[in-house]
Amino acid sequence: MAQEVQTPQATGTTLVDVKGLKVHFPVKGGLLGRTVAQVKAVDGVDLFIRRGETLGLVGESGCGKSTTGRAILQLIKPTAGTVKLDGVELTKLSSNEIRRKRADMQMVFQDPYSSLDPRYTIGQIISEPLQNFNRGNAKAIQEEVGHLMETVGLNPYYVNRFAHEFSGGQRQRIGIARALALHPSFVVADEPVSALDVSIQAQVLNLLQDLQGKFGLTYLFVAHNLSVVKHISDRVAVMYLGRVVELAKSENLYETPLHPYTQALLSAIPVPDPEVELRRKRIILEGDVPSPVNPPSGCNFHPRCWKAQAICREVIPPLEEKQSNHYAACHFPG
Ligand SMILES: Nc1ncnc2c1ncn2[C@@H]1O[C@H](COP(=O)(O)OP(=O)(O)OP(=O)(O)O)[C@@H](O)[C@H]1O
Ligand code: SF4
Ligand SMILES: [Mg+2]
Repeated sequence: MAQEVQTPQATGTTLVDVKGLKVHFPVKGGLLGRTVAQVKAVDGVDLFIRRGETLGLVGESGCGKSTTGRAILQLIKPTAGTVKLDGVELTKLSSNEIRRKRADMQMVFQDPYSSLDPRYTIGQIISEPLQNFNRGNAKAIQEEVGHLMETVGLNPYYVNRFAHEFSGGQRQRIGIARALALHPSFVVADEPVSALDVSIQAQVLNLLQDLQGKFGLTYLFVAHNLSVVKHISDRVAVMYLGRVVELAKSENLYETPLHPYTQALLSAIPVPDPEVELRRKRIILEGDVPSPVNPPSGCNFHPRCWKAQAICREVIPPLEEKQSNHYAACHFPG
């Protein structure tokens, strides 16, 4: 593994800068298989991630979190928008240049059962990126695999075992070792613990945090719900129907949410204090999340928003800094 970097958390410089990101998937239909509609999975995402920080990305199922993560890493070609990693515009790079950039940006997947091929040994799985990038001869790679296994808390003695012989938590450690093999600076962790038993979720989260401190990693951490990301995120971005609607430091977002959707999400989280819980006002959202094939005009939250006015149906509210370091996309925040 690379020499350990004593990087301070969130140094303030921007590592990842995403503007106007869109990913529209064509829906084919009819006998001729023509494109009959578009799934607007990501429809104008703006966000930035500072070096060394963890940005939590939360939102309901289907709101576009995974697609955003993949499009930032150029695993899916964005339909529009810009993605800068350390000042380099990724959407303009050739496939060869992207391949070289892969060393610097990696993904940890949600399901360690399906993301690792059960027919390969751990050694083969972790060494693959090292071989693809010609990182030394067979002996050096073997040593590096052993080192990586130790780094993620796996005994190198098991290097020749197959992925299917391991538990979910251990498999996720293998996935993390593989993601770190090339010493990336940026890692997208797409719900990395949600497929694991509750009892081992904390261990894997702690490991990710330890590795961040050790190697100065920057994380985009995707999760379904706000309580999961609260403790591990420096800042949190809330997504709704393909857009980021609020982005702030964790404590500000949880204490003074500015966007009605965030307020509704937070109001649904039970409070441990029974007295506070009794007084807690819950905001019940009307209706379902609309389809990303035909999203509402203007602010796409307007059909469910109790504060909506005429302008909300017509004008998309940009993600703006409404308070210091607190961004919201709403015409009537607060
Ligand atoms: N390859 C694809 N082709 C067509 N539609 C897609 C494709 N991938 C995702 N979608 C659609 O895009 C939308 C966003 O999907 P995405 O997986 O990014 O959401 P998500 O927020 O990660 O959801 P979850 O929390 O369930 O993982 C969904 O409506 C999904 O059905
Ligand atoms: S812009 Fe309007 S509809 Fe959208 S969240 Fe704000 S008040 Fe509600
Ligand atoms: Mg997802």
